[in-house]
Amino acid sequence: MLLVRRLTAGDLDAFRDIRLRALTDTPENYGSVAEAERAQSDEEWLARLDADAWFVAFEADRPVGLVAGRARDDGWILYSMWVAPESRGQGLAERLVNEIRAAAEDDGAREVWLHVAEDNDRARRLYLRLGFVPTGELEPMPNDITRRRERLYLPVTAGSSK
Ligand SMILES: CC(C)(COP(=O)(O)OP(=O)(O)OC[C@H]1O[C@@H](n2cnc3c(N)ncnc32)[C@H](O)[C@@H]1OP(=O)(O)O)[C@@H](O)C(=O)NCCC(=O)NCCS
Repeated sequence: MLLVRRLTAGDLDAFRDIRLRALTDTPENYGSVAEAERAQSDEEWLARLDADAWFVAFEADRPVGLVAGRARDDGWILYSMWVAPESRGQGLAERLVNEIRAAAEDDGAREVWLHVAEDNDRARRLYLRLGFVPTGELEPMPNDITRRRERLYLPVTAGSSK
């Protein structure tokens, strides 16, 4: 049984668990490192939960997918996308992207933005399949300046996520 829902303050343990799992599994895809986040206090984790919209996919109460969205002046930004290896290839990432798209739409945003590493073929294919548009805007990865990431955006129109 799979359930995708937005996290609240009561989900602190599940949040920390899946975020640290993501950072440990594929550190090369993120701009943060597990050691730094593991050192954060409960208050810091709760502040992050409160600041952004975090959605998690639960399979029988076990967190297996994560994504975050943040409202900004130029639209919403999608980040921290991760699906547990054993749960990939079942459309879970698409469900998580759709949560951010719906939240952005409810917020009146016109675009959802994200960065994806140039060499992350699987994630890139996913985003293009879901309608994200490549901008050709490339910049070094925050954790590894020998690699680059591209900015993609998804136009959001009223009713598009329904
Ligand atoms: C990128 C990532 C989030 C994709 O997660 P996912 O849940 O496997 O994504 P999806 O299920 O939507 O799609 C993945 C593949 O499964 C296929 N698929 C989707 N739904 C399916 C279904 N119901 N049945 C069979 N196959 C399916 C898709 O066609 C896709 O195939 P492709 O890679 O050959 O194009 C995941 O691989 C991951 O966490 N990677 C490591 C972290 C990462 O790269 N994050 C992104 C940072 S920008």
